[in-house]
Amino acid sequence: MSGPRRLPGDPPADEILARMIRVDQAGEYGARRIYAGQLAVLGRSPAAPVIRRMAEQEERHLAAFDRLVVERHVRPTALSPLWHVAGWALGAATALLGEHAAMACTEAVEEVIDEHYRRQIEQLGDAEPALAASLEEFRRNENEHRDAAIAGGADEAPGRALITAAIKTGSRLAIWLSTRI
Ligand SMILES: [Fe+2]
Ligand SMILES: [Fe+2]
Repeated sequence: MSGPRRLPGDPPADEILARMIRVDQAGEYGARRIYAGQLAVLGRSPAAPVIRRMAEQEERHLAAFDRLVVERHVRPTALSPLWHVAGWALGAATALLGEHAAMACTEAVEEVIDEHYRRQIEQLGDAEPALAASLEEFRRNENEHRDAAIAGGADEAPGRALITAAIKTGSRLAIWLSTRI
């Protein structure tokens, strides 16, 4: 069976796959914590049902990677205590700025995740069709979350450009770290 596409100097195929599963588990864990932080603040607001629906999908995504980590003997990220705190704090902090800021947070995170899953699917190529299909399904869910965030007024968040830039940078850093550590 062929492995994920490699470039010269890339780690071996098994390690590439392990890194993918590691970072995806970390990302879905972080996503779940972001929504938990948002719900801690906005649990009774009109936005709550939308957030809860997204959170349920993140649970499903996370469960899939939890299974893969066991099946493929992947070392999980050592940074989950950090994502536990940082994810929740990000969700709660943006929610404290209001529903629109919470939605701007979701929009920014999901855009980065879309980009991230796209890249992984491309890297897998013909290898691991079942995993690639899951990634594609999850990517579509994340796009729906982004669309729900836009419909929920992300554009109207005060300081939106700043929120978006900071969260995208933070999310990309988290991806970089969780791939490796
Ligand atoms: Fe997700
Ligand atoms: Fe999501």
